Amino acid sequence: MICKITKKKIRPFMSFGKMPIANGFLHKKDFKKEFFFKMEVGFSKDISLFQLNDHPKPKLMFNKNYPFFTSSSNYMIKHFEDYSKWIKEKYFNNVKNIIEIGSNDGTFLKNFKSKRINILGIEPSKNVATIAKKNKINTINKFFSLKTANTLKKFINKTDIICAANAICHIPDLTDLIKGIDKLLSKKGIFIFEEPYLGSMYKKTSYDQIYDEHIFMFSVSSVKKIFELYNFDLIDVKAQKTHGGSMRYVIARKGEYKIKNIVTNSLKNEKKANIDKLKGCLDFKKKCEISKKKLRNKIFSIKKKNKTIAGYAATSKSTTILNYCGIDNRHIDFICDTTKDKVGKFTPKTHIPIVNIKYFRKNLPDYTFLFAWNHKEEIYKKEKKILKKTNWIAHVEI
Ligand code: TMP
Repeated sequence: MICKITKKKIRPFMSFGKMPIANGFLHKKDFKKEFFFKMEVGFSKDISLFQLNDHPKPKLMFNKNYPFFTSSSNYMIKHFEDYSKWIKEKYFNNVKNIIEIGSNDGTFLKNFKSKRINILGIEPSKNVATIAKKNKINTINKFFSLKTANTLKKFINKTDIICAANAICHIPDLTDLIKGIDKLLSKKGIFIFEEPYLGSMYKKTSYDQIYDEHIFMFSVSSVKKIFELYNFDLIDVKAQKTHGGSMRYVIARKGEYKIKNIVTNSLKNEKKANIDKLKGCLDFKKKCEISKKKLRNKIFSIKKKNKTIAGYAATSKSTTILNYCGIDNRHIDFICDTTKDKVGKFTPKTHIPIVNIKYFRKNLPDYTFLFAWNHKEEIYKKEKKILKKTNWIAHVEI
């Protein structure tokens, strides 16, 4: 495989086998048309970058049927309020123009709405972009790229803040993305983004972070090295609890801001934990294999006792767990989810029916697989009444 940034040859260190589109929930009539790709991961030693090899074309994933709405989680709504407060406290100096890349339904940008500020969301999935527009968030329905940046005349060299959350790791051509950012940012402008963190994935063996949309798993080391190649500094970082462990990165033009101590300290910690080296990947691979064996044994022993299992939340992450571990509709009767677009469909490749939450509460299984383990607090609170009436399981510690 070829590193998506340095273009040097690298060897995949792990394969997850044949995978469908992680968010490709589908109707029975479409079972025969499913798309598959071989999911392998590799590591570029030069820039410490953990990345997918082959992946589906972005248009296959982010289109008019994209089933993820940021506002489906109260926790995420609150998180985006806090994220915007943090930006306002730390990096808000006479701001006039703000852009969000991958702005989804506008949940984040709405926190910046003011008469004095021009806000612009750039969102490739039509259905979520339409909701943002309905909510009066200025949004264009496009993929972000240098070409898109060139069309935004009002924002060229004048954007004070470009932000993103769980979007940058979805963009395969990072070089083009950075050129687009370079085009738009003012001299003192900053680019802030947060993404699932490689260090958290290693710590929890949460390999379900790896799926088609997550082309990169970033770390402080990789982000610093990537942006240095294009004359940018990584000036600040902040660990986040979201998505089972994320990291917020703040990028500025070289020499424009002082680099915070936390950046240097995080780099030291990553070195100690081998997050900047291939050794970290190889240790992770061993842990994944052990985790897979443990989960399969657990599921098979439950089924041997003729007990029922259902899933809670048809997450994109669950596609990796189910397919990597060979668990399907023979083991799991149904998965419940709050997303209207998913209910009535089936999970990709494993074809487990998706039902609404009411159905789950009325037909409680003996065991409930918590696929949205990263939303545990919110879900346990919501399911207080039935919490003790089923046994909760997951592939990570919950
Ligand atoms: P994701 O991990 O791919 O972002 O998907 C999260 C899914 O979890 C989404 O389909 C909505 C679902 N969900 C519930 O069904 N109930 C909940 O309480 C929460 C927080 C999420």
